[in-house]
Amino acid sequence: MGSLCDWPEPVICVQSLSESGDLVIPDQYVKPPLERPILCFNNVNIPVIDLAGLVTSREAIMKQISKACREWGFFQLVNHGVRTVLVDRVPEIWREFFHEPMEVKQKYANSPKTYEGFGSRLGVEKGAILDWNDYYYLNYLPHCHTKWPSQPPSLREVMEEYSSEILRLGAVLLKIFSINLGLEEDYLQNAFGGRDIEACLRANFYPKCPQPDLTLGLSSHSDPGGMTFLLPDKQVCGLQIRKNDQWITVKPTRHAIIINIGDQLQVLSNAIYKSVEHRVVVNPDKERVSLAYFYNPKNDLLIQPIPELVTSKTPALYPSMTFDEYRRFIRTRGPHGKVQVDSLKPPR
Ligand code: OGA
Ligand code: NI
Repeated sequence: MGSLCDWPEPVICVQSLSESGDLVIPDQYVKPPLERPILCFNNVNIPVIDLAGLVTSREAIMKQISKACREWGFFQLVNHGVRTVLVDRVPEIWREFFHEPMEVKQKYANSPKTYEGFGSRLGVEKGAILDWNDYYYLNYLPHCHTKWPSQPPSLREVMEEYSSEILRLGAVLLKIFSINLGLEEDYLQNAFGGRDIEACLRANFYPKCPQPDLTLGLSSHSDPGGMTFLLPDKQVCGLQIRKNDQWITVKPTRHAIIINIGDQLQVLSNAIYKSVEHRVVVNPDKERVSLAYFYNPKNDLLIQPIPELVTSKTPALYPSMTFDEYRRFIRTRGPHGKVQVDSLKPPR
């Protein structure tokens, strides 16, 4: 438990709260009644898409992806080409990091300036209601000063291998999205900065929580960047997405990677593709680990609705803004539903 001068109040590691054995969570983590999770027992799941089908039934798979981007903003990919040993290993190596002694993790304590390193809160609003989560945030591309933990020793190598496979998959998806939107196949990759895209990642650790019905592991938010590749915990569900004002719990498929559209792709596509709100619920007897890899546009490029997608019937919904400006605009606050990208829309 350490106090960091640039956070508005001392930061408390959630894992230490979880391990204290206290059966009552501190008030700071108790959400207002309307934000508390409701257990939903529906059989709906986000689309599961088999990328191997791109060779044998290209048109059908392209259509499935198009529909998923427009209607769900979320899908699971199987046979995505990322080696299954990595898909299995990556969340586990981060679990090992989160189980390192507190002194080891505290060496990497983060500040709200860049968020890089080990942290337990998002946003700097004093007195804010917090999420039941510890995390490790890393800037990965451009390669300049990645703040790697030194433990476990193979973490960096595993993450570099995983990253190179995700970057390959990201490029394939941007091609598919471009073609599906009726653009030249390299359109979106170029709009993201070509080879100079940005990438960062957040490993999430959701400790066991004695009162999971009062809090959230991660409050409702949409991802600010381009697109996200999420490796969920194999054993423990927790991710929920909002669809038609209902929360749907994602049931991960074995070895799948969960893909979601971020705010920048919503802006570029002029809202043809949806950056969908999601959140995480926690458990009384199971911890949960996930790894979110954010594939983002280069931070100083102007992002605006693609002219080809703006018509008299579908006028531009967003002003142009660099990803850097956008991120600064939202970073002072914690996760906040979807007010951020929607607040850029002109009044009607
Ligand atoms: C995120 C996120 C979901 C999860 O890190 O942005 O939405 O399942 N994570 O941890
Ligand atoms: Ni997210």
